[in-house]
Amino acid sequence: MEWKPNKVESVPIYKQIADYMETRIMNGEYPSGSCLPSERFLAAELGVNRGTVIAAYDELLASGLVKKVKGIGTVVSQALWGEGPQKRIPNWGQYVKSGFFQINNPINQQIYQIIQSRDHVINFAIGELAPDLQPVKLMQDIHRSMEINDYLGYEHMQGNIKLRETISAHLRKYRRIETTPSSIIITSGAQQALHLIIQCLLKPGDAIAIEDPSYAYSLPIFHSAGLKTFLLSPGREGIDPDEIISLYKRTRVKMVFLNPTYQNPTGTTMSEERRKKIIEISTQYGIPIVEDDPYSITGFQEQAIAPLKSLDRDGAILYISSLSKIAASGLRIGWIVGPQPVIDRLADAKQQIDFGHPNYPQWISERLLASEGFDVHISQLRAGLRDKRDRVVEALRSEIGSYIEFIEPQGGIHLWCGLKGECDEHALFRESIQNGVIFAPGTTLGSKKGFMRFTYSRTETQDIREGIRRFADALKRVMK
Ligand SMILES: Cc1ncc(COP(=O)(O)O)c(C=O)c1O
Repeated sequence: MEWKPNKVESVPIYKQIADYMETRIMNGEYPSGSCLPSERFLAAELGVNRGTVIAAYDELLASGLVKKVKGIGTVVSQALWGEGPQKRIPNWGQYVKSGFFQINNPINQQIYQIIQSRDHVINFAIGELAPDLQPVKLMQDIHRSMEINDYLGYEHMQGNIKLRETISAHLRKYRRIETTPSSIIITSGAQQALHLIIQCLLKPGDAIAIEDPSYAYSLPIFHSAGLKTFLLSPGREGIDPDEIISLYKRTRVKMVFLNPTYQNPTGTTMSEERRKKIIEISTQYGIPIVEDDPYSITGFQEQAIAPLKSLDRDGAILYISSLSKIAASGLRIGWIVGPQPVIDRLADAKQQIDFGHPNYPQWISERLLASEGFDVHISQLRAGLRDKRDRVVEALRSEIGSYIEFIEPQGGIHLWCGLKGECDEHALFRESIQNGVIFAPGTTLGSKKGFMRFTYSRTETQDIREGIRRFADALKRVMK
């Protein structure tokens, strides 16, 4: 919620909240019959005591705008507009529940709400870069020198041609992938790339394989599309290729989604041998692989790891990447490289969905990727990520080394941490939030209990030690 009460104003805070909620009710933003946010939730959102929200709701109650319904909460009165011709107001609550697009995991919803509404929470939960890792100065320079010479109409369905040319050169230089601009489509981050592939190339009832744990596991979009998901478990060297074969024989999976380099959340990287084997399997059984690769150029060693796609000579792999983890997630620039008929099909869908990608982020991204400063930025990013990784590792070891185990990631932005003992994951999550620190509970990303993901890239460097100390404090209390 963007609005916040003004704490210096003479009007009491509960009254400001009551007025604000009244305005929203009168605007139809909370139609009659709908439920207001719970007192606890609204208090957290607005950064006030629950008692203040209770007083605000009491005010609305007294004016007859809302009523209390047992087991439901505070509900907007049906008789809001007085007597008159019988009205049948749309039942939005029912619509909201019955759409085919599934809602997010409630813990993920909660993470986003907390991050957006509180400034004092130390953030190990969201997969993006902290301001000190983003190329802010470079972007400012680009922005200042930018002239708008290009046409401001709808873009090409596959995305701006200059950006696609630059991405093609970037892929050759940084990722050893040979492709032409025609085989690239620009998307709204890797997220939309996944969504387009799911919507255009698969149909309800199809079986697909995803990693467990994985970012894909956390996404309801596979189930929204009616797909049956089968799970593959990545070890220290990534997915075992034989697991793909046996899964295929059992279920005829139509597509396999992998994140082979600095995997989210485990941080593991698939070995070269397994990469080669997976390409072989893909072309032997005709199973397309979707390689989701936001992280391969963030490695801490000299030589970047070559994606699976760099070994693909048969067009068996759909390659996805984005600028989110190497420059700025807010640009919403991602891309897919794939065979021409696939790119044409996805571009047609993108045109139907949003009439092509916005010009501005594409122009800026093109200049960023083509700039001399980009090389320097990537070196600084790797060094900065490594420094944050080291600080998290050091803090975890010294605060709770005997309670946990983890593999030190060699690139990427996530550290996957297992608990040695048992603990109530929800209680740990709640307790940590109370302590002002937030992380991603493991079950939002995988089926096994007893894990959590610490994303070190988003945390401000000076907060890392304190964040882990607060987490350690919560853990010790919950494990007692
Ligand atoms: C493996 C993976 N794929 C895709 C995404 C989506 O990223 P974006 O849409 O910002 O490019 C993420 C984000 O965390 C990710 O970790």
